[in-house]
Amino acid sequence: MKLPRSFYNYTSYLGTIISVIAWATLLFFVVLIYFFGIDNVYFDLYTFIVTPAFIVLGLIIIPFGMYRKNKKLKEGIQVSNEKLLILNLRDSKTRNALLIFSTISIFFIISTIVGSYKAFHYTESVEFCGKLCHKVMTPEYVAYQNSPHARVTCAECHVGEGADFYVKSKMSGMRQVYKYTMGTWPTPIETPIQNLRPARETCEKCHWPQKFYTNSLRSEKYFLADSANTEWDIVLNMRVGANHQALGLTGGIHWHINPDVQIDYKANTKRDTIYWVKITNKKTGVETVYKDDELVAKPELSAKMEARGMDCMDCHNRPSHEFRSPSKYVNELLAGQNKIAGIPWFKSAAMEALKLPYSTTDSAKTEIKNKIVKFYQEKYPDLYKKSGKEILLAINDVETEYLKNAFPEMKVTYSAYPRHIGHLETNGCFRCHNNKFKSPSGKVISKDCNLCHTIVAQGKSDSIKYIGINGALGFIHPIDIGDAWKETNCMECHNQLYQ
Ligand code: HEC
Ligand code: HEC
Ligand code: HEC
Ligand code: HEC
Ligand code: HEC
Ligand code: HEC
Repeated sequence: MKLPRSFYNYTSYLGTIISVIAWATLLFFVVLIYFFGIDNVYFDLYTFIVTPAFIVLGLIIIPFGMYRKNKKLKEGIQVSNEKLLILNLRDSKTRNALLIFSTISIFFIISTIVGSYKAFHYTESVEFCGKLCHKVMTPEYVAYQNSPHARVTCAECHVGEGADFYVKSKMSGMRQVYKYTMGTWPTPIETPIQNLRPARETCEKCHWPQKFYTNSLRSEKYFLADSANTEWDIVLNMRVGANHQALGLTGGIHWHINPDVQIDYKANTKRDTIYWVKITNKKTGVETVYKDDELVAKPELSAKMEARGMDCMDCHNRPSHEFRSPSKYVNELLAGQNKIAGIPWFKSAAMEALKLPYSTTDSAKTEIKNKIVKFYQEKYPDLYKKSGKEILLAINDVETEYLKNAFPEMKVTYSAYPRHIGHLETNGCFRCHNNKFKSPSGKVISKDCNLCHTIVAQGKSDSIKYIGINGALGFIHPIDIGDAWKETNCMECHNQLYQ
């Protein structure tokens, strides 16, 4: 089978070889993926992105070579009698070329459609986002898998619908791939709060804001760092909604997202310090500004800063990447396993070992184990002789929890990404609710302990005090610190209790 003379040149040969090899590789990968069920993110990358790119490259090189050869032929460098570029179907060479060209084209168009569909799905998949750049994405990916959104794809929150955000995200993706290949990514990865898609277009696609959530009970077990790991329980009735369903969003925590109110605020770029808040009643048009005079006076908090409308993300900012503090996950471990809670001093020993920053995951694992073992060997050798086995098993569990919540290589811990719900380890709600924001009429944004929740049970596990579901107990701090918890924000002690 002969082809037009213009085909016979080295450039077009090269193009042919490239695309044939790429086709063969693609076929090989497709067979492995679909017939042998190989599920590997790198295989997908080669199949749907890299090999098609080479096929296209080859197919571009072929006509390029033909064009150059043609030009040469025309210029008479190799004079010939043949009439060039005339589509003569009687000529078997032209017929062959046309046949090959159209077959390849049809094949190519179909596979491009299928291929781009596959490529689209692949680049939107959780595996692509979470596993491909695994060195960088591991913290977010691991936290994601342990989150209530483990079945929501990364793209549903980070990209959303519409071509503009799709293109934007692919462009920023290219930049990230570049940084990844050059090894110049920041540790920890910066939070994309500034250019994250607004909650209205992501979260609210699934969570209908007008849906009223009723109040919910939050039952927590804490363990003190003493010999008995004394258990202290607190049950909070969270006032998520208004006191009665019929009242809708007119009260309670989700009042902030009531469509009739608009809350704007100004803050530093990390949004952990807020210094100006405005409420607009959309029905009456009345505006009330609250200011923290002490903060407004600070030069680094410029009055020119743009105000931001409050949405879901201002409270639920870690809906799918929550890194918990050691105190939190050790409490959970002890709450879940009586055996561990029964080992004297275990909370204390674990917190000692978990407070230091480690530089690698491996060194963290060895060090955590060594520190806890040393704690017992030095201070309580008899106990270690008796319960060494249980202690070692408990250490394994501590390490497992550590690996879910801290990623030394990326410098990721709970404190790298503050979570804005609550007020124990970060200021969270107390960024505004601290009795310091004043309106012109002297009203403050309240820190009243019964505004957001009521305590319906609290105390040591063997002597808990209860009250009816509509009642409220006065808060008792688990260890005696006088009135310090009223005067200082909880976070000021709690974010460095175990530093
Ligand atoms: C439920 C929505 C949601 C899903 C699903 C989600 N993310 Fe996020 N992600 C967020 C939000 C919101 C932030 C910003 C957090 C902040 O402002 O503190 C974020 C931040 C990040 C960051 C920046 C670093 C950080 O921790 O703040 C990375 C990286 C990231 N996400 C990766 C992923 C990957 C990979 C997946 C899928 C495996 C994923 N995300 C799935 C909502 C989501
Ligand atoms: C694709 C749908 C989807 C999107 C988008 C989505 N969520 Fe969710 N969300 C869910 C599902 C499903 C659950 C789990 C419900 C359950 O467990 O009952 C959930 C649970 C939650 C919960 C309850 C968590 C808990 O501990 O029970 C919160 C809070 C939440 N989402 C906030 C958000 C925020 C904030 C965003 C935007 C950044 C968001 N969601 C985006 C589907 C979604
Ligand atoms: C003012 C802060 C704030 C804002 C704004 C906010 N939430 Fe919440 N939300 C909370 C708190 C606090 C809880 C209760 C959490 C707890 O029990 O620990 C909660 C609970 C939830 C729950 C779980 C309800 C349940 O009982 O299972 C969902 C889902 C949720 N919010 C979604 C949203 C969505 C979607 C938006 C935006 C439209 C939003 N929230 C805006 C603070 C807020
Ligand atoms: C950006 C500032 C800001 C943040 C952050 C904030 N709030 Fe508010 N909140 C307000 C303002 C302003 C009001 C209205 C004060 C008033 O008019 O008395 C309010 C009112 C409330 C109310 C009373 C609603 C009613 O009328 O029944 C509750 C409950 C509440 N907030 C809970 C929370 C919780 C929980 C958090 C943290 C998850 C939080 N807020 C974070 C600004 C904020
Ligand atoms: C503006 C709302 C708000 C106010 C005011 C408030 N809290 Fe809370 N508090 C919360 C939220 C929201 C949580 C749940 C945190 C979470 O979901 O992790 C919480 C959690 C707690 C917890 C459980 C600790 C934890 O994080 O595990 C205690 C104890 C508590 N609050 C005590 C108090 C006391 C005492 C006061 C008064 C000084 C107070 N709260 C005022 C919103 C508030
Ligand atoms: C003056 C410092 C200080 C302040 C302020 C403070 N705490 Fe504490 N808190 C402590 C100390 C110290 C412990 C004991 C830690 C231990 O034994 O492990 C503790 C323990 C706790 C515990 C149980 C231990 C655990 O595992 O977390 C809770 C719950 C708690 N505090 C809640 C609060 C709340 C809520 C506030 C704010 C309303 C607050 N604390 C303010 C110092 C403080």
